[in-house]
Amino acid sequence: MKKLVLANQKGGVGKSAITCQFAHYMANLGKRVLVIDLDHQRNTSRPLAKNGRVAVAPFTSSAVLRGEYESLPEAAFVLVPGDDGLSLLVDQKDKHNAFVNHLNDFLGRAAAAFDLCIVDTNPNPDIRYAAALCTGDFVLSPIELNQEAIDGIGGLLNHPRYGYHKIKQTVNPKLDLIGLLPNQVESTPFQRANFKQVAEAYAKLLILVDPETKRFAFIPARTAIPEAQADGLYLAEMKKTSARDAWREIRPSFDAIAKRMHLEGL
Ligand SMILES: Nc1ncnc2c1ncn2[C@@H]1O[C@H](COP(=O)(O)OP(=O)(O)OP(=O)(O)O)[C@@H](O)[C@H]1O
Ligand SMILES: [Mg+2]
Repeated sequence: MKKLVLANQKGGVGKSAITCQFAHYMANLGKRVLVIDLDHQRNTSRPLAKNGRVAVAPFTSSAVLRGEYESLPEAAFVLVPGDDGLSLLVDQKDKHNAFVNHLNDFLGRAAAAFDLCIVDTNPNPDIRYAAALCTGDFVLSPIELNQEAIDGIGGLLNHPRYGYHKIKQTVNPKLDLIGLLPNQVESTPFQRANFKQVAEAYAKLLILVDPETKRFAFIPARTAIPEAQADGLYLAEMKKTSARDAWREIRPSFDAIAKRMHLEGL
């Protein structure tokens, strides 16, 4: 089982929307997918729980961190939902190591039953965020193309305790940054200039979709995405033309991310 963490210390950049849509995409490729929502806002849990294809575990992600979980449902697409208890874990500093170990044990037990586990994180660098990075294999970091978000890339990489480099050096040497995934990209001159700026400053951190054309992965701003999230749907299966068009634009980027994890279609 590969473990993919969606992380960015900046809020509202699309971590949850991309978690849900990428989880559906993978499940549709025939992969067995486990999703863990480590955010008490539950913006991944709600849409997935609404979708009839997803089996919801009878325990929450804070129970996983506390080591108080039961067996997972026997299904090919499973959600461990977030809950309010997640926020309470942050101040229990004496238990932080135990939380990481419990998550690690849980993932180890789930490994045989799934091909991919996607962990959606909260936007603060705290113990939940750290536990995900300490136990993951891959990190994918959605970003928005505005100056504040671009400035935040430094925190993702270099936060003194929970930055990618620190966690990789000290706790989890196998952690592999797939890259930055620009989200909500619009074709305005302003956004194009920002994309160019990111591409120049962080070329190695963007995800190549096509080495020949040097096209990087990105997700366009499309109203079909919040619509899919609100109804708990997979974009590719929505009937509206706008959703189909959006999916056609997004698919090559998802293909590139799957390929990077060696999880291409069966
Ligand atoms: N490409 C997109 N086009 C249009 N709307 C989008 C796109 N991506 C995400 N959104 C919408 O933007 C909002 C924020 O996205 P989302 O909740 O996924 O961000 P997040 O990074 O998980 O936020 P948080 O840090 O609060 O967990 C949601 O309403 C979502 O539906
Ligand atoms: Mg979220």
